[in-house]
Amino acid sequence: MVFQTCPLACRVPYNPGSARRSRHGARQERLVFTKWIGIDLGTANCLVYVKGKGIVLNEPSVVALSVNDNRIVAIGNEARNMLGRTPGTIQVVRPMRDGVIADYMITEAMLRYFMQKVTGGFRLSKPQVMICVPAGVTSVEQWAVRDAAEQAGARKPAHLIPEPLAAAIGARIPIGSPAGNMVVDIGGGTTEAAVISMYGIVVSQSVRVAGNKLDDAIAAYIKRKHNLVIGSRTAEEVKVTIGSALPLHDNPAMEVRGRDQLTGLPKTVVVHSWEVTQALAEPLSQIVAAVRSVLEATPPELASDVIDRGMVLTGGGALLRNIDRLLAQETGVPCHVAHEPEKCVAIGAGLALEHLDVLRRSLPTDDEPLAAMGVTA
Ligand SMILES: Nc1ncnc2c1ncn2[C@@H]1O[C@H](COP(=O)(O)OP(=O)(O)OP(=O)(O)O)[C@@H](O)[C@H]1O
Ligand SMILES: [Mg+2]
Repeated sequence: MVFQTCPLACRVPYNPGSARRSRHGARQERLVFTKWIGIDLGTANCLVYVKGKGIVLNEPSVVALSVNDNRIVAIGNEARNMLGRTPGTIQVVRPMRDGVIADYMITEAMLRYFMQKVTGGFRLSKPQVMICVPAGVTSVEQWAVRDAAEQAGARKPAHLIPEPLAAAIGARIPIGSPAGNMVVDIGGGTTEAAVISMYGIVVSQSVRVAGNKLDDAIAAYIKRKHNLVIGSRTAEEVKVTIGSALPLHDNPAMEVRGRDQLTGLPKTVVVHSWEVTQALAEPLSQIVAAVRSVLEATPPELASDVIDRGMVLTGGGALLRNIDRLLAQETGVPCHVAHEPEKCVAIGAGLALEHLDVLRRSLPTDDEPLAAMGVTA
């Protein structure tokens, strides 16, 4: 039998294909029909990782509701396509805000729908679920996520994992080693920076500035400079198409359509990349400040490891052009973008289920919420 190196560097023989593994979740493995599911319940997107299959679902955290009877009309991709295009009788909402549940009932319905989609509805036993929460979560917010997952069909207890820890595991950072590993997860609602050593978060900082705030800054800039009112979807499209954290040499441009603020009529303007860079400067400075504050609070031995290894960027926001260069420039610490950064948290949550024994002391429980574990917002 060939044992591989454990992705978490925990030095225990690890054979992912074996049904009879040593400490790695042997107990759970006997339940052949149980699915192991890692969920990234994000502000912008919900991703589901199933053991042995990888990422099986990646849909926007969006729900469309009928206003008259509060009935759910659509969830995920279908609901997102309705954003800004619905009649008065349908309302499109995002039940997650800033990484936490803003509307409990809708979040639960959305989770149930996604979980049924991946388990196929018919189950002999409930799936074992690991779901991520921001590091700065309160015990009430933490309880809401666990309860929503259980109500949606997860086996009790649904496990929770701080997002930076899941991101680091998903980025294949060897967090079991006694060395400082830094991860910065830039999502839609929150940016979380953390230094991790020996499976635990040593220092962390969570700010409610991420992809959505970047979109808002672009929309505000275009309104101010071009008198053009655009929606959040268009602002995001501008960010993804020509956005950059630092000026681009070729300064690409694109046509942006919206409503003229003065005449109220539809209008098209040409926006250049350098304008987007200018618009993003302020929210990006807040992200830089959060990363710097984590570095400043990191104990010296771990800080020297971080300088050697560099920080790893995860989350959809890490796909913004040159954000790694900006962070490296502003902090003096090398910066790398993880492979498929938007998937790291979900993959990490799923992998964490396979390493519950070694991770347990770093995971929040009802008795010991994250705040009591020294993880700070
Ligand atoms: N190519 C890209 N360039 C810039 N930003 C991008 C790109 N692709 C995705 N994003 C942004 O990434 C964000 C979504 O990232 P992600 O899915 O990691 O967020 P989330 O996990 O749902 O949010 P959170 O972790 O804050 O709860 C969105 O704001 C989206 O606009
Ligand atoms: Mg996220």
